[in-house]
Amino acid sequence: MKKKVDKLITDAKTEIEGVESSKELEAIRVKYMGKKGKITALLKSLGELPDEERPAAGEAVNKGRKQLEETLKTSRETVRSSESAQKLRSQSVDITLPAVDHVMGHRHPINRVMEEVLDIFRGMGFSVRKGPEIEKDYYNFEALNIPKDHPARDMQDTFYFGEDTVLRTHTSPVQIRTMETEQPPLRIVSPGKVYRVDYDVTHSPMFHQVEGFIVDDRITFSDLKGVLIEFVNQFFGEGTPVRFRPSFFPFTEPSAEVDIGCVMCSGSGCRVCSDSGWLEILGSGMIHPEVFRFVNYDPEKYSGFAFGVGIERLAMLRYGIDDIRLFFENDLRFLAQFS
Ligand code: PHE
Repeated sequence: MKKKVDKLITDAKTEIEGVESSKELEAIRVKYMGKKGKITALLKSLGELPDEERPAAGEAVNKGRKQLEETLKTSRETVRSSESAQKLRSQSVDITLPAVDHVMGHRHPINRVMEEVLDIFRGMGFSVRKGPEIEKDYYNFEALNIPKDHPARDMQDTFYFGEDTVLRTHTSPVQIRTMETEQPPLRIVSPGKVYRVDYDVTHSPMFHQVEGFIVDDRITFSDLKGVLIEFVNQFFGEGTPVRFRPSFFPFTEPSAEVDIGCVMCSGSGCRVCSDSGWLEILGSGMIHPEVFRFVNYDPEKYSGFAFGVGIERLAMLRYGIDDIRLFFENDLRFLAQFS
């Protein structure tokens, strides 16, 4: 019996040595230890032995079985770990593959220019105030020294909501709202949307302005020039030609429009500057004494200057865009150029 067992174990071990998968190993286990396995058969046959042989034979078979179980267990562990290593290798992620590209959004050119303008003025000590886009006639016109039936109302074609309410045509009403609630010294910029009945390559019914104004004692036209020249130098580059051209606004006196040397032709004359060599970029002037009276400031005590600059205009000059409507059509082929 002992010999039989030894032979079986040796055979089994040889088979186990050649095994490569847990499946094969399981087949061997069944072959020897399963219900109809060879070792199991030996165990069953013990009953047929004479009484005196049975204990020794039983011990031999049991010993063999234990040995085989031990060998199977060790081999199972080896096979499993090599199988899982194999699996990891075949399922590994190739981190050298390029990643899926994300299309990143970016800021709208108008917002970019707006932020840049505000930054320049913040750098000169201005603080930001905001006002409503739906505005009282009083703030948009009346208190800015533009009475009803004043011919100056024709300068701006207005969207009305009935008698006394309008879509603001400029950011100047924020001058009045600020001066009503705050006392000098004031150094304010006010960004926002404004509306006019107008639509062509250089006009849009909605566009953006930044209003700026300073009120204090002894503010002069030199301060106005100094601040606006500094702005032009920072926005369009140091040494950009600037000129102040006499103009008219009901709420400033004297008034001046500011021109810069044409960015397209450098002043030699082209289609963009109508051969003048100059481009208008903003309106400005010394705040009219009548405006101060509306907000109960003493015009003998205080003086100030104000200006209003169109953001789309600046953006068109900065990026060489010849149709204002491109800003509002949201065509990605246009917008993607500003990323
Ligand atoms: N509000 C004027 C406009 O929209 C610009 C301006 C502002 C002019 C402040 C003078 C002073 O045309």
